[in-house]
Amino acid sequence: MRHGAPERQTKDRAPTLSFQPSTLDPVGGGPSVTLEQNLAAVRERMAAACRRAGRPAGSARLVAVSKTHPGEVVAAVVALGVDAIGENRVQEAAVKRRHVPRGTPWHLVGPLQRNKARLALDTFDLVESVDRIEIADRLELLLAPENRILPVFIEVNIGEEPQKSGVLPEGAEALAGHVLARCPHLRLGGLMCIPPYDPNPERSRPHFVRLRELAKRLAPRLGLDQLELSMGMSEDFEVAIEEGADWVRVGRALFGERGG
Ligand SMILES: Cc1ncc(COP(=O)(O)O)c(C=O)c1O
Repeated sequence: MRHGAPERQTKDRAPTLSFQPSTLDPVGGGPSVTLEQNLAAVRERMAAACRRAGRPAGSARLVAVSKTHPGEVVAAVVALGVDAIGENRVQEAAVKRRHVPRGTPWHLVGPLQRNKARLALDTFDLVESVDRIEIADRLELLLAPENRILPVFIEVNIGEEPQKSGVLPEGAEALAGHVLARCPHLRLGGLMCIPPYDPNPERSRPHFVRLRELAKRLAPRLGLDQLELSMGMSEDFEVAIEEGADWVRVGRALFGERGG
């Protein structure tokens, strides 16, 4: 973490939470801090970023990305209160979700394969990672007989990295147009991006600006009032909020480093 990292504190401040320290080692090592304290620190940093940007407090929502952490940790963060749970892997999330009380929405933030679409629909309330027509069509095909509407975001490969998933920025309008015209059971709500990794959050800023400008340009062309922005992770969520993120997706700053 480059700046504003959660303060190091001891575990004994949150007796209701009983994880093994190994699941909650803080980012960057050092003594363990609790999930509750991490969450409070992230919330505080989000609020400060909102203030800096002249945005209403609470106008950015928090997706707690719990990938690799066990169901009991997810249940704990749900009990503490977050806006959504984010998971990358469909199968892992499906297993965990059984152990977590319902109520908090789950977002799929990782790539979706066609053959996992059924399980994804059974597990998630929102898919942030629609990145090609084939996936949109597959979801539509499965949703139609149930007459269920699924909120989705389009994932944009904002840094145009060859190895990354996400539609290229110049393809976003066509994909969004397809979803709106041909997938009546998908409700397009926003754009998501994962900028090229850089430990310096300022390097993410131009990517966040680019996503915001893309959303601003596309929304009226698509006949939408707005496209929300899901952008910003542990290293750069404050910069993302300054640049207009409606959702930030935070894993390590809440849960510590991932085991694998
Ligand atoms: C799409 C996506 N968003 C957010 C995160 C959370 O990242 P971090 O742990 O750096 O906050 C991850 C981590 O795997 C991710 O894949």
